[in-house]
Amino acid sequence: MVKICCIGAGYVGGPTMAVIALKCPEIEVAVVDISVPRINAWNSEHLPIYEPGLEDVVKQCRGKNLFFSTDVEKHVAEADIVFVSVNTPTKTQGLGAGKAADLTYWESAARMIADVSTSDKIVVEKSTVPVKTAEAIEKILAHNRKGINFSILSNPEFLAEGTAIKDLFQPDRVLIGGRETPLGQKAIQALKDVYAHWVPVDRILCTNLWSAELSKLAANAFLAQRISSVNAMSALCEATGADITQVSHSVGTDSRIGPKFLNASVGFGGSCFQKDILNLIYICECNGLPEVANYWKQVIKVNDYQKTRFVNRVVSSMFNTVSGKKIAILGFAFKKDTGDTRETPAIDVCKGLIGDKAKLSIYDPQVPEDQISRDLSMKKFDWDHPVHLQPMSPTSIKEVSVVWDAYEATKDAHGICILTEWDEFRNLDYQRIYDNMRKPAFVFDGRNIMDVGKLRKIGFIVYSIGKPL
Ligand code: NAD
Ligand code: UGA
Repeated sequence: MVKICCIGAGYVGGPTMAVIALKCPEIEVAVVDISVPRINAWNSEHLPIYEPGLEDVVKQCRGKNLFFSTDVEKHVAEADIVFVSVNTPTKTQGLGAGKAADLTYWESAARMIADVSTSDKIVVEKSTVPVKTAEAIEKILAHNRKGINFSILSNPEFLAEGTAIKDLFQPDRVLIGGRETPLGQKAIQALKDVYAHWVPVDRILCTNLWSAELSKLAANAFLAQRISSVNAMSALCEATGADITQVSHSVGTDSRIGPKFLNASVGFGGSCFQKDILNLIYICECNGLPEVANYWKQVIKVNDYQKTRFVNRVVSSMFNTVSGKKIAILGFAFKKDTGDTRETPAIDVCKGLIGDKAKLSIYDPQVPEDQISRDLSMKKFDWDHPVHLQPMSPTSIKEVSVVWDAYEATKDAHGICILTEWDEFRNLDYQRIYDNMRKPAFVFDGRNIMDVGKLRKIGFIVYSIGKPL
C-alpha cells in the first residue's frame, strides 16, 4: 500500500488530498498540520474551509483512507510520497520584503522531512514557489541525511477556490516536473500513477523541474493580466460611453482570446495572484530583467488603481463626502462560494471609505465578524503569516458593524457597495431595500451582477463598473 502524507491542511492540502483519497481507495492519505484548531476542524462536522462539494468527499473517506493529524513527524516518516502544501506568503521583512516569497515554512518542513526520514521518499512541491526552489530543497534534504534517496518533484496546483472540487475532479491539466535522471523519471511515473486513477493520461503533463515551477507563476500572471486588461478597459468605457460587458463579449468571441475570465470587477483578490506576481517580479529583477519586471508590475498597479477608482467613485457620487453616512457593504469574501478573505478587494474599499469617515455595515453570508475585524486591522502582507500560529485578537473598529442579513445592512443606509458576486444578492427585494434607505439611495455594483435598468426604475442612482452612468 502506497502511503501519502501532505504537510499543510489548508485550502490546497485539504481538498487535494481528500480527492486523492476518494479516487485512490488503496492509497492511505494523511494530512498533517502544526495548527491544532485546523486539524480539529477537519476531524469535526464543521470543516475549516467552505468549499462546495468538499464535505461530501471528506465524509466518504475520512477514517477509511483519509486521516487528519497533528502528528506531523510520524506520518512523514511512514510516507512514500510527501506533498508539501504549506503557505508561501510575501516576505514582510528583510531582503526582498514586499515582493519575494517567504520560504520559512517550506524550509522548516524540508528540514523536518530530512530529520525524520528513514526510508526513500518522493517529496512533492505542491505550494507555489519561486523557480529553482527545488534546488534549495534538494540541498537541505541531501545535507541532513546521508544514504536516503529523496526525489523532488514540482506538482503545482491550479484549483480555484469556490470550484476546487470540480477543478480537482476534472482538471484542465496536471503538471509534474522532475529531474531528467532515472531516479527523477521513476518519481514522475509514481506520481503520474496516482493521478492516472482519474485524470486522462493526455492531461498529465511532464516537464523538467524549472518549467513546472515557472509555469505555475506564469499561469497566475496571465490570468491576473486578463483581469487587469478588462478592468483598464472598464475605466475607458466609463469615460467614453462604451459598455464593458459588450466590449468583453465582443473581444471574447475571438476564439484566439476566448470568453472566460473577462469580467470587469472592483479588482482581483485572493491569496495568490498578487503574491505570485510580486514573486515573479522579484525573480525577474534578481535575474537582471527590469523591463520584464516592470511589465508585470503594471498588472498590480492597474488592480490597485481599480480599487481606488471605485472608492473615489463612491465618495464623489455622494456629494464628495461620506462622512458619518451609513454605507452597506454586501460581500466581503474575495469571490463567491468561499469564506476566504485573503487579499479581498473589500479590505481596500472598506479602508478607503473608513478613511473618508463613512460608517460601514457589512454583510457576507460566509465571513464571520472576527475575521472581518481582523482583516481590517491588519497590515498589508501580514495576513498570510499564519494568524493561528501567532493568535491576534481582532480589534473592533468603531466605524464598522457586521450584520447577518442584507436587509439589516442596508437599513437607513445612504449607499450600497456590492463587493462579492454572491448569487443571493441578485434576488434581494430591492424595492423593500430602497424603501428603507436614506434618499437619494445609491448602488455601487463592483461586480456587475445587478440589472441596472430595474434598479433605476425603483429609484436608485446606480454605478456599475465600466457601464454608462
Ligand atoms: P493555507 O494557509 O490555507 O494552508 C497552509 C497550511 O500549512 C496552514 O494550515 C499552516 O498551519 C500549515 N503549515 C505551515 N507550516 C507548516 C509546517 N512546518 N508543518 C506543518 N504545517 C505547516 O494555504 P493554502 O491556500 O492552502 O496555500 C498553500 C500553497 O498552495 C501556497 O503556496 C499557495 O500559493 C498555493 N496555492 C493556493 C491555492 C488556493 O486556492 N488557495 C491554489 C493553488 C496554489
Ligand atoms: C486563482 C487561479 O484561478 C487558480 O488557477 C490558481 O490555482 C489559484 O489562483 C492560486 O494559485 O491560488 P482563485 O484565486 O482561487 O484562483 O480564484 P479566481 O477564480 O482565479 O479569482 C481570483 C480573483 O479574480 C477573484 O477576486 C475574482 O473575483 C477575480 N476575477 C476573476 C475577476 O475580477 N474577473 C474575472 O473575470 C475572473
